[in-house]
Amino acid sequence: MKIPKRTEAEQLERIRTSIYPKAADACTDLAREISDLIRARVQEGKPAVLGLATGSTPVPLYRELIRLHREEGLSFANVHTFNLDEYFGLPREHAQSYHRFMQQQFFAHIDIPADHIHIPDGMVERSAAYGHCQEYEEQIRESGGIDLQILGIGRTGHIGFNEPGSSKDSRTRLVTLDSLTRHDAARDFLGEVNVPRYAVTMGVGTILEARRVRLLAWGDAKASIVARAVEGVPVESVPASFLQDHADAQFVIDGAAAAELTRIKRPWKVGEVKWSESVTHKAVLWLAETVKKPILKLTDEEYSEHGMAGLLTSQGPAYDLNIRIFNQLQHTITGWPGGKPDADDSFRPERARPFPKQVLVLSPEPQDDVLYMGGTLSRLVKQGHRVTVAYVASGNLAVPDSEVLRSVELMLEMAGELAADGGGADAQFAGSVREQLAAKKTFDNDTPDVRRLKRLVRRSESRSACRICGLPGDNIRFLDLPFYENGHYRQFSPRANDRERIAALLKEVRPDQIFITGNLAEPSSVQGICFDLFRQAFESLAGEAWTRECRVWLYRGSGSEWDVNEIEMAVPLSPDELANKIQGIYQHQSQRSQHPIRTSGHRESWQQAEAINRTTAESYNRLGLAEYEAIEAFRRWSLK
Ligand code: F6R
Repeated sequence: MKIPKRTEAEQLERIRTSIYPKAADACTDLAREISDLIRARVQEGKPAVLGLATGSTPVPLYRELIRLHREEGLSFANVHTFNLDEYFGLPREHAQSYHRFMQQQFFAHIDIPADHIHIPDGMVERSAAYGHCQEYEEQIRESGGIDLQILGIGRTGHIGFNEPGSSKDSRTRLVTLDSLTRHDAARDFLGEVNVPRYAVTMGVGTILEARRVRLLAWGDAKASIVARAVEGVPVESVPASFLQDHADAQFVIDGAAAAELTRIKRPWKVGEVKWSESVTHKAVLWLAETVKKPILKLTDEEYSEHGMAGLLTSQGPAYDLNIRIFNQLQHTITGWPGGKPDADDSFRPERARPFPKQVLVLSPEPQDDVLYMGGTLSRLVKQGHRVTVAYVASGNLAVPDSEVLRSVELMLEMAGELAADGGGADAQFAGSVREQLAAKKTFDNDTPDVRRLKRLVRRSESRSACRICGLPGDNIRFLDLPFYENGHYRQFSPRANDRERIAALLKEVRPDQIFITGNLAEPSSVQGICFDLFRQAFESLAGEAWTRECRVWLYRGSGSEWDVNEIEMAVPLSPDELANKIQGIYQHQSQRSQHPIRTSGHRESWQQAEAINRTTAESYNRLGLAEYEAIEAFRRWSLK
């Protein structure tokens, strides 16, 4: 891989960092580096030794390597691999074991000999764990050491399962997982309580001995930890920061994961910048936050003292600049997310006409809509627009068994009440699902019947949430896209028919306005996949006149909100509207914590949504704008 010299803008970065527009582009380059390494080793008559990771992050890399194997004849016969880690106590056959993951995602598709593959054994006896770890280290040494180590990064800053507190010279060992890591894995295991508490992992010291290290990160959820690892001092509380001391470590990340690096977030702090509209906006809001003053009170001195004298020269004095940015921010606020009919719309985020608008809200999974734009949805309906909400993926994978059991038991009770003989086909179905659940072992995947019922659980919850937002039942669509129905987390393979279903919906609704999320999400997440399918579908229809008039608004999703400087439409919610939205979120009962007594400090989704909307309102207020109870925020998107 060609690594450009560090530029002035990268001066604060203590690890070389390559930012790519998309994960796929990064993986093309990295797969090329790996194939060059393998071929060079073949020439030398030596094996190539790769250190491998699991999780969502390396999936696109493995897919690209498989493609190189199939289409360009890259052989792995000469490759030896060592995986970073494995959950402790999880049998290899478990759907979430890393043994199984590696087989499914990579090894089954290439020509690597089985005896070249090494993965820590999670089923080793507790008393034999230390010996097993030492043996693993020994095997790495005997192989000649790792040539190139692939890493992901956890939101705790972990590499492998080296959680905060791991020392720089730690070796392969049995570790306890951090509560945030277990929380992040809860979705895979259908609940945090099912997530193993321990794992066997290579140590930080073991990882640092690899000759090259490439850490990958995609999506906005990784942005802040990436910045801490790259720009902070090396500390045990962020184990990935120890890579700063490695001679050939590199972060390979996408734009969303790079968002918190200084060169992206505060470019004026690391060199000359072109004071474009967006950089100016960002800088003024940052200054106001930093000196803790409303925009209109910022002074020339404060601009100069914070390295923005250049901005004053081109756009000052402060008085003019402040008013301009203040007005821009003021104009993002609207109580009319679909546009205000018959009003002058020159300074409004949305056009007055057409009225009413055809509005399409795309919710990747049930609940995304109401969580991030429940208040706006209610307003759009109330203000007379023709709103359609489409749930793209059914969301069945996120429903715990207990919810299905409750539903089938309700059906059976009903059947018992209605017919003394125990009811008809419905009761039989319910009875059979109950048996299937009873027969399900801890590590089994759901049967098709159970998945079907889980899908229906989510449908009824979504209907109920939409009802609270005032949306008529006829305006709700469940697309149940096949990529999700036929897949599992991290193993979705979207195809043309997924895209075609979205395109068909777009063609039918011909929306004037679309709301969607997922443009910054990790690419193999449901939200990331749905956004990409939407983008492709929208692009395929670019020839149709309505697409040129249609405005696409992004809600942020993923448990966060746009930074104020990114917001292009801010919809204030009154206390009643916020309460109504929370009630809407509350309808998604299957998504509430299944264990009311918690210790991890985890908040329920409605609490998170409420906090996010209140925080946005507070930020506007601190900048000198009106004081609202809560705000939902959006950004525009268009086909480049
Ligand atoms: C996986 C591993 C972990 C993951 C990290 C990120 O073998 O060791 O450190 O790389 O938890 O996980 P994802 O990629 O799922 O976000």
